[in-house]
Amino acid sequence: MIKLKDPIHGEDSFESLLYKRKSSRSFNPSKISFQQLSNLLFATYGVRNNGPYKTVPSAGALYPLSIYVVIGKESLNEIKAGVYRYMPVTNSLELVKEGDLRRILAISCLGQAFISKAPIAIIISANFERMKYKYGNRGIRYSIMESGHACQNLELAAISLGLVSCPIGAFSDNDIIKAIGLSDYEIPLYVVPVGHEEKE
Ligand SMILES: Cc1cc2nc3c(=O)[nH]c(=O)nc-3n(C[C@H](O)[C@H](O)[C@H](O)COP(=O)(O)O)c2cc1C
Repeated sequence: MIKLKDPIHGEDSFESLLYKRKSSRSFNPSKISFQQLSNLLFATYGVRNNGPYKTVPSAGALYPLSIYVVIGKESLNEIKAGVYRYMPVTNSLELVKEGDLRRILAISCLGQAFISKAPIAIIISANFERMKYKYGNRGIRYSIMESGHACQNLELAAISLGLVSCPIGAFSDNDIIKAIGLSDYEIPLYVVPVGHEEKE
């Protein structure tokens, strides 16, 4: 288990984050810091004020999402390449798979090669069954809505940390499931590469 850092506060106003947010598809190979990774994951699906609630709203507070991070070789000083699962309650990461999977991830995203240039990519997946148990088929809608909240938090957090990102929805579900090692009941909804912008 890798314990993450407590998030630190950014200094930009909320409005300036909104002005700066954009989908960026050019990343340079610079590393990101352990603090930046910790902040990004907290924003995406962290537990606020010691729980049980999180940084995003959730219908019935059922929290059907799981968050994974693909970390490349030499992407962070403190963490080796691999796929990790974010554990919100303990604010930690658990290793799922070792190795640099960014190229496979980019191929799974229908060959969107820029994804493999970002030091990390965060994957947001949902367990629809957890929501359907209470809400029937409407639970699918609620899960997808919740992933939008998480993704927007992630993108704005990236901007506040001086990073850029791009929300990716075009991918083969099966290829992502295989690459990341998701279980049968986890459906990938977003792949979000994050890193430093390569200025053109
Ligand atoms: C659900 C969703 C799926 C998307 N999928 C992709 C994608 O697969 N590849 C990509 O490059 N951009 C993708 N985007 C980003 C959009 O292209 C982008 O948001 C849009 O062009 C507006 O630009 P902006 O985000 O810079 O404001 C996606 C955005 C959303 C909301």
